[in-house]
Amino acid sequence: MNFELKTLSLASAAKTATETLIVLISEHFQAGKDPLSALIEKAIKAKDFSAKAGKTLQAYAVSGVSASKIVLVGIGEGKTGDVKSGVMGAMTGLKSAETTKTLITFASTPTPANLHASILAVAEGTYVYGTTQSKPKTRKLTQVVLGVAAANAALKETFATSVAMVQGIEFAKEWANRPANHATPTLLGKAAQGLAKTANISCEVLGPKEVAKLGMGSFMSVAQGSAEPLRFIILKYQGAAKTDTPVVLVGKGITFDTGGISIKPAPEMDEMKFDMGGAASVLGVFKSLSLIRPKLNVVGLIPACENMPDGLAVKPGDVVTSMSGQTIEILNTDAEGRLILCDALTYAERFKPMAVIDIATLTGACVIALGAIRSGMFASEDTLAEALQNAGNLAMDLCWRMPLDEEYAESLRSNFADVGNVGGRAGGAITAAKFLQRFAKKYPWAHLDIAGTAWKGGAAKGATGRPVGLLLQYLLSQQVGVKK
Ligand code: BES
Ligand code: MN
Ligand code: ZN
Repeated sequence: MNFELKTLSLASAAKTATETLIVLISEHFQAGKDPLSALIEKAIKAKDFSAKAGKTLQAYAVSGVSASKIVLVGIGEGKTGDVKSGVMGAMTGLKSAETTKTLITFASTPTPANLHASILAVAEGTYVYGTTQSKPKTRKLTQVVLGVAAANAALKETFATSVAMVQGIEFAKEWANRPANHATPTLLGKAAQGLAKTANISCEVLGPKEVAKLGMGSFMSVAQGSAEPLRFIILKYQGAAKTDTPVVLVGKGITFDTGGISIKPAPEMDEMKFDMGGAASVLGVFKSLSLIRPKLNVVGLIPACENMPDGLAVKPGDVVTSMSGQTIEILNTDAEGRLILCDALTYAERFKPMAVIDIATLTGACVIALGAIRSGMFASEDTLAEALQNAGNLAMDLCWRMPLDEEYAESLRSNFADVGNVGGRAGGAITAAKFLQRFAKKYPWAHLDIAGTAWKGGAAKGATGRPVGLLLQYLLSQQVGVKK
């Protein structure tokens, strides 16, 4: 999909050749002397339309307007949520009409946040997954022009960032949506290597031998029940001086989670193909970085493997030694995410990072706590927590800070190892975070539990691409020379 930002008055929007013209109208709309203003005024007078959020009106073959179909969309006071849902609604119409070209114009100059919201909505509203059908579904919309009265510097910058963000989000969606037999650890490694074709990005993919040499006994124990060999992916983006300390992103890459010997029930188990949503978000962020090229250094680490039951699989009660030297009693093989992440967190130490953020579809408990609206966010430092919360708000990819009191760690005690891999059912998202925190003591650390936000179930089953937006926005705020 090709996006373009253009300076267009309503008068010139009316003259522009396009299939469908979408006009976003806020309560502050002031009519001019052009055919679109006349249409809007007439519709409001006739009470067929108002600028209230959620109102829409379609019109055809309006004289003086070049597009054959016009959609008026009310966006109320211009809250970002209202702009997003308004544009999403209009996109549903375009999708069923198989529109290829559209012009979305703001009747009054938008804020950068509103421009961002509309770009996100266009992408989300028209996305189609088309990799594994015999006749691949494709997105019909190929050309989107966004018209604003004056494309000032702030709007231009937001436009470029948002378009790149959307590409990262869609890259993450693509990989997360692929079924496990089309997104093996090996294929994830190849996807990462594909990203390294752009300047500034390099990639290294380790296999079982190298990972054994590093002493990642915890990660290896999860992979040992699967016929698919594990991969440890290291991506590096260099946009600042070599000496600048990087932000490290660590993505959980369980390409399929059966639960292992502590096997999961059959209903909805297919959704455990999305258990590499954290890994997909890291790939997505690197895709966006390759397009924006911001001034900072970023490392992406992805431990990738399947969690399978097998004669060779790790068993409840087994004790394994992590790369940190800490021993872990695996009481439940379904709590495997933390077992692969802990070794990646230890590996992250070598970069002397300014911050490490891990991203994981880690616990069903987080879904119970926060549902599908906000990702769970844990942070060892307030400044990092605030930066992530703000980034989420700006990117419309929300998170909510959760606690890390030491008392929550008590349930992880083991009689046979330094730590157990599960606490009780109570506070399950927090005990999982407390487990990870033991391995993240040497740098500022945050953990995003995206179990509720990385994908949707039911009829709209599919990956969301979250939290690519949040992560990218955070990274952009950490650039050299940007005030913190
Ligand atoms: N991948 C799951 C978490 C998950 C479950 C995400 C459902 C989204 C929906 C994770 O590996 C897991 O199985 N966690 C267990 C942990 C438990 C055994 C302590 C869980 O949440 O049930
Ligand atoms: Mn599991
Ligand atoms: Zn899992």
